[in-house]
Amino acid sequence: MGLFITFEGGEGCGKSTQSRLLLKKLEQQNISVVLTHEPGGTSLGGEIRKLLKEKQCSSISPQAELFLFVASRVQLLIELIRPALEETKVVICDRFADSTLVYQGYGRGLDLTTVEKVNNMATENIKPDLTILLDMSPEQGLARKRSLKDRFELEDLSFHHRVREGYLKMAATEPDRWLVIDASLPKGKIAEIIWDRVSKLLLTTRTTQT
Ligand code: TMP
Repeated sequence: MGLFITFEGGEGCGKSTQSRLLLKKLEQQNISVVLTHEPGGTSLGGEIRKLLKEKQCSSISPQAELFLFVASRVQLLIELIRPALEETKVVICDRFADSTLVYQGYGRGLDLTTVEKVNNMATENIKPDLTILLDMSPEQGLARKRSLKDRFELEDLSFHHRVREGYLKMAATEPDRWLVIDASLPKGKIAEIIWDRVSKLLLTTRTTQT
């Protein structure tokens, strides 16, 4: 199997920038890598993403929201993530199942055990080898958003605080999988911290696979 790396964090934390920088760095090393994101990454996922982010869809119930995110994930796993990992590629995913636990569980208040069960049904045995959390206060993150706000960015500040707390709690329970980085550090410094960890991980996985 390849290496599965996910990026997590609240709004405006810089995940997309850092996932693209990591993609570039891996490509420069001639490592086979794919970058994808959630919700989305497939044509079905793209449609679901639009529904979930549009502010006109404010009447989506938390339960329906949960299943829409999970539906997008299942499709992405089948179409892209699983095959790429089977081809021993590195897969970088901008958000994955941890986002569901944090946003729908901690944020929306759905029962965490139920969310976890639904997550597990969808992901089966696919779990990230490394999850990079770009941690930032919601005040700072939301202030970075210049474009029109989506359904999640429009949530009140307490929602975003619950999301942040949820992430930090999850990271603390599985410290080997999570790499928590202060997202207010300069972009280049963050990329350096990430590369330091990923290069070591590549070395150990590639050595154990040969
Ligand atoms: P983003 O990818 O541009 O950050 O937008 C995705 C939004 O969807 C973001 O606000 C987080 C939210 N989200 C969930 O609520 N649950 C999920 O499972 C995922 C993947 C994202």
